[in-house]
Amino acid sequence: MNILILGSGGREHSLAWAVLQNPKCDKLIVAPGNAGIAQIADCAAIDINDGGTVVEFAARNNIDFVIIGPEAPLANGVADRLREAGVLVFGPSKAAAALEASKAFTKEICDACAALTAAYGHFTDAAAAKAYVKAQGAPIVVKADGLAAGKGVIIAETLAQAEAAIDDMFGGEFGTAGAEVVIEEFMAGEEASFFVLCDGADVLPIGTAQDHKRVGDGDTGPNTGGMGAYSPAPVLTDQIAERALNEIIRPTMAEMVKRGMPYQGVLYAGLMIENGTPRLVEYNVRFGDPECQVLMMRLGAQALDLMHAASQGRLSEMQVNWAQDHALTVVLAANGYPGSYEKGSVIGGLGELPEDSSNMVFHAGTASQNGNIVAIGGRVLNVTARGDSLAQAREKAYALVDGIDWPDGFHRRDIGWRALS
Ligand code: AMP
Ligand code: GLY
Repeated sequence: MNILILGSGGREHSLAWAVLQNPKCDKLIVAPGNAGIAQIADCAAIDINDGGTVVEFAARNNIDFVIIGPEAPLANGVADRLREAGVLVFGPSKAAAALEASKAFTKEICDACAALTAAYGHFTDAAAAKAYVKAQGAPIVVKADGLAAGKGVIIAETLAQAEAAIDDMFGGEFGTAGAEVVIEEFMAGEEASFFVLCDGADVLPIGTAQDHKRVGDGDTGPNTGGMGAYSPAPVLTDQIAERALNEIIRPTMAEMVKRGMPYQGVLYAGLMIENGTPRLVEYNVRFGDPECQVLMMRLGAQALDLMHAASQGRLSEMQVNWAQDHALTVVLAANGYPGSYEKGSVIGGLGELPEDSSNMVFHAGTASQNGNIVAIGGRVLNVTARGDSLAQAREKAYALVDGIDWPDGFHRRDIGWRALS
């Protein structure tokens, strides 16, 4: 089959790497891709947020199956346009993608199906929001309703902080994303991510992960898109995962069917776990980045069969062949990230690394310039390894990191500490 993957990050590099291991893949194109992806697949510079462009490109290249990586094309309805054109696609409709694009929508769905999550209020004006906060007390969580690039969530320790966050959001700090505000009960506990495939009817778990959002060792400093991740997440035991399926995810999927917007694709549930009970923090309608990199390293070639079955409504026939393995990824970021950083520095040593089925450097923000790999993003490389234990996966990943010569970049040295301590 001829396959098109949309996206340009480490997530899409790992998807491409897994898909290419499967003999059912005859041809792979990634749009727009990056310098690492270009080493293993054809890349095409098209506007992936424009449904018409993607449909036309797919037709011209005899594409049989499209895998959509990031949330923006999903929120723009690119999956709908492909389905209308008769192209098989992995990724939810625009309507179903509201599970990520609107926090108020997600809370309403959770309410309707009694999924375990934080108590909340939904507001369109500051006065009502402040009155709610005053009645509930701090700590409390203030969220912009829409997509705010991971920045629209304020954990307010005091009432004054909550009120300031409400003023900022209604004052336009997060643009239209903050025109509506969700205020949530603060949930204590340990966070983990649960990934399931959905085909509109059935749900199939494909792995758990934990990431490290803070920029510095010991989980210090500002939040980032993620500085590393590992799979599986020990805190998400089989028993807790079963509860998350039965008390959060399956009810949500059934509610989506009831509303005429069945969900098809990967569903990424961010969970807060306390005293053996999981509660939903948020849904994402795509793979996490860098969580996808550790999932793909564990799933390998079967990832294509599973995504293909999800898009054809055949998940009930499928099962995941698990190895008793662990994977860990370390993000190499440009000095200055998540603040401002320089672009164009040369990354050395990549050619000498042993890349195979359990050691891979996935590229995120890279480009090829005059025969060199240069950094062009904040998060630049995802150095990923697999082992029989998490400790072994970590040792292998850091051995790879230490072979990379990039003075203009930095990384955390403690990825996995929570699970290993
Ligand atoms: P979100 O964008 O909704 O995932 O929120 C970003 C981060 O804020 C989450 O990963 C959590 O660490 C934290 N967070 C969000 N909502 C809550 C909540 N209700 N209680 C505690 N922490 C939260
Ligand atoms: N690593 C978090 C995310 O992809 O949303």
